[in-house]
Amino acid sequence: MTGHEEISDRDTQINPALFVSRSLDEIRFWSRIMKEHSLFLRLGFRCEDTQLIAEANNFYHVFEQIEQRSHAFNNQTSPEVIRKFNSEVQQAATNIFAFKRKVLGLILTCKLPGANNFPLLVDHTSREANYFRKRLIELNEGKLKPLPDAIIKENVFFLRIMADHAKFIGHLLDPSERKLVDLARNFSNDFDELVFQARDIESMSPQSKTVPLLDQFLDQNRVSVVSLKDFKKTARELIEECKIKSIIHPLLADHVFREAERFLEIIDMFERHLTGVKPRSI
Ligand SMILES: [Fe+2]
Ligand SMILES: [Fe+2]
Repeated sequence: MTGHEEISDRDTQINPALFVSRSLDEIRFWSRIMKEHSLFLRLGFRCEDTQLIAEANNFYHVFEQIEQRSHAFNNQTSPEVIRKFNSEVQQAATNIFAFKRKVLGLILTCKLPGANNFPLLVDHTSREANYFRKRLIELNEGKLKPLPDAIIKENVFFLRIMADHAKFIGHLLDPSERKLVDLARNFSNDFDELVFQARDIESMSPQSKTVPLLDQFLDQNRVSVVSLKDFKKTARELIEECKIKSIIHPLLADHVFREAERFLEIIDMFERHLTGVKPRSI
């Protein structure tokens, strides 16, 4: 596909093989993420929040089981079995979304004084749960968004996620780690700008859906995501080796690194489809 004309606005039908592999890929990635969110939330509650701790633990087990089951299936599993599995997982994602929003409400009304989950972190994890549910609904409906819409929407979503990560790292590092805090703040500013740029492209749609504009959009985002991913990798190593002062759980450092990797894979896949090399798989 070349030229400056707008790109097709039709939905893409998903074939059964792609449906199975795509569903399993999403569930394997995001169920582990949801499981880890449950752990992070639990660590942030106060000792007396026994009910919330029990709920978080319950979600941990729910998503641990989903993750295990997803690895027991493979690309040969029948689409009907996967369709049922998707609905079940989607329900679990909806439940953890509701739990996160409830916790956010408690924090914002000052019902959990002294607890250690930032409101933005809770909101952020709820957005990830919502993304996961929506992906499963979309897959079960058998349709994928048209490529240009998918490119714009995924980037608006993930750029904001990356901007949040930079903010969390900056706030959970010890304030005496001045250089690293500065670096994290620069990433936060860089990604805030990219979020605005992505929203501008979105508001200029459908006229902005041209191959050259979307191609450049992806290239520019990729450059920043690669450097943020490297920064997260370094932070993860420094935390694991106990070389820096912070209250970042090593698993959280790894978690945000994996989410950056996921975004990069999505960007690369879009790039390949935009240049017409391969059929879509998202
Ligand atoms: Fe996450
Ligand atoms: Fe995240």
